[in-house]
Amino acid sequence: MTPSKLAACMLWLAATDVLSALPDAPASAEFCGRCHRAIYEAWKQSAHAVAMESRLFQDALELAEAEGGSQARKLCLQCHSPVGSRLGDHALRLKVSWEGVTCDFCHSLRQVAWTGGNPQARVEFSLLKSGTIQQAASGAHGTEFSPLHATAEVCAPCHEYTNSQGFSVLQTYTEWKASPAAASGQACQSCHMTRIAGDVVDPRIQRSREARINLHSMPGSRSLQQLTRAIAARLDAVRQGDQVLVTVQLHNRAAGHRLPSGSPVRRLNLVVRVEGYDGSRAEQERTYTRRVADVQGRELDFEHLVFLRGARELSDNRLKPDERRTEQFAFPLPASVKATVKVSLAYYYSPMARTEQDQRVVFLSLQRLLP
Ligand code: HEC
Ligand code: HEC
Ligand code: HEC
Ligand code: HEC
Ligand code: HEC
Repeated sequence: MTPSKLAACMLWLAATDVLSALPDAPASAEFCGRCHRAIYEAWKQSAHAVAMESRLFQDALELAEAEGGSQARKLCLQCHSPVGSRLGDHALRLKVSWEGVTCDFCHSLRQVAWTGGNPQARVEFSLLKSGTIQQAASGAHGTEFSPLHATAEVCAPCHEYTNSQGFSVLQTYTEWKASPAAASGQACQSCHMTRIAGDVVDPRIQRSREARINLHSMPGSRSLQQLTRAIAARLDAVRQGDQVLVTVQLHNRAAGHRLPSGSPVRRLNLVVRVEGYDGSRAEQERTYTRRVADVQGRELDFEHLVFLRGARELSDNRLKPDERRTEQFAFPLPASVKATVKVSLAYYYSPMARTEQDQRVVFLSLQRLLP
């Protein structure tokens, strides 16, 4: 046996060893990553991998518990630690409960039930893994071809949520369902899990017939590439007497849902600035968001409050899929003064943010000179 073959054989033995030592329970992503290396590396970069341990979520969870006790904690864990929630490990004693939306949750999901208010994931933790490879052959665990995993339904249990007041908090799935993307057969996966070159299984362990994998990093609003792809913007500025008239056209050209979607505390900010050569500065802005209030009509602006106490929508001016929106602004400026008109678009994540990176990102800037 050549040294490389021997090494591969040892790796295989090591992996199968762990497997046989494993109880019939959800395994840690690290374990899956021994063979599914490329997928593991990508998943590690995803929001899913940090859904439980991120500072942002931890802070919000603490406030949720202060507000609604252990019931609130249980609710949050349903989506942020789906394995911990299923195993009743609300104290998070197991490592796998800390792994957020982890491999063995999604690949133990067999069915999505639409009975009752919210879409429910039917999950069976076992050595059978459901996926979209037809006739997968793995000596390590059973495999099951699951057409469900190629559809948006598999994402719905966590990306669509109506709370106990009957208020629809997350509606990404419903927004998608009504979008041109859904009509043309593009599921969430076609934008968030594109197929890329890569090995399904580490080739030192097994050569797989497919050299393509679905991108498990699931780029969303924290991906500059997704954000810049999502919006096309146009800036026009003209003078009219002692005024500058600015027109900005925004086009949600690539998000298969509203922009922003998901948690109502997310917002998009458009800022227009006119900088006169005489030193004058003027600024106007527009915010795109969904404003939510509790039963008394008090506006709610933190994630935990929106989830627990959201009762009605005050307004919703987010950009619909494929929508073009034209915004007009007027600034006073003497006709003789030259100026630069600047436009920027920023995405705001969460009011709980402690770092600049968690707070917002400016992803688009345009400018025009007004002679
Ligand atoms: C039905 C599933 C679900 C439940 C229940 C849920 N969340 Fe979330 N949460 C999400 C999803 C999905 C996102 C991703 C962003 C989005 O869609 O806006 C998210 C995002 C967040 C974020 C922002 C994280 C970031 O990185 O920007 C915070 C904070 C948060 N949730 C806190 C909570 C708290 C606290 C609770 C319990 C009161 C809770 N969530 C309950 C699904 C859920
Ligand atoms: C010892 C190596 C090994 C380990 C550990 C391992 N797998 Fe696999 N897995 C494979 C092989 C080999 C295939 C088959 C690939 C093929 O046929 O192209 C596979 C296939 C799959 C598939 C595709 C199934 C289908 O029908 O589409 C999924 C999903 C999967 N594994 C998930 C997991 C998860 C989740 C874990 C951790 C709990 C895991 N695997 C651990 C080797 C492994
Ligand atoms: C078990 C629940 C669960 C399932 C199933 C799930 N997600 Fe998520 N997803 C979450 C949570 C929770 C977050 C937020 C994590 C955080 O930031 O704290 C999230 C975040 C995301 C993000 C990043 C959002 C952002 O703010 O940029 C994207 C994109 C995403 N999910 C897409 C998907 C897709 C596509 C599917 C289906 C293939 C899916 N999710 C299935 C729970 C889930
Ligand atoms: C046609 C492409 C496309 C489809 C289909 C699509 N998305 Fe997105 N999604 C995007 C883009 C682009 C962004 C980044 C812009 C943004 O933040 O909205 C995004 C952002 C997100 C975010 C971050 C919140 C936000 O909007 O800011 C979540 C969560 C998400 N998608 C989940 C989903 C889920 C779940 C589905 C299926 C039900 C889905 N997406 C379908 C393109 C798509
Ligand atoms: C949020 C749910 C989710 C999580 C978390 C997740 N997967 Fe997947 N995985 C999917 C979906 C959905 C597909 C099929 C996508 C398609 O075919 O459109 C898939 C496909 C696969 C496949 C088949 C090959 C491929 O890329 O299509 C393997 C193997 C796999 N996943 C392993 C893993 C491993 C290992 C982890 C953890 C490191 C993991 N998955 C985490 C949802 C998930």
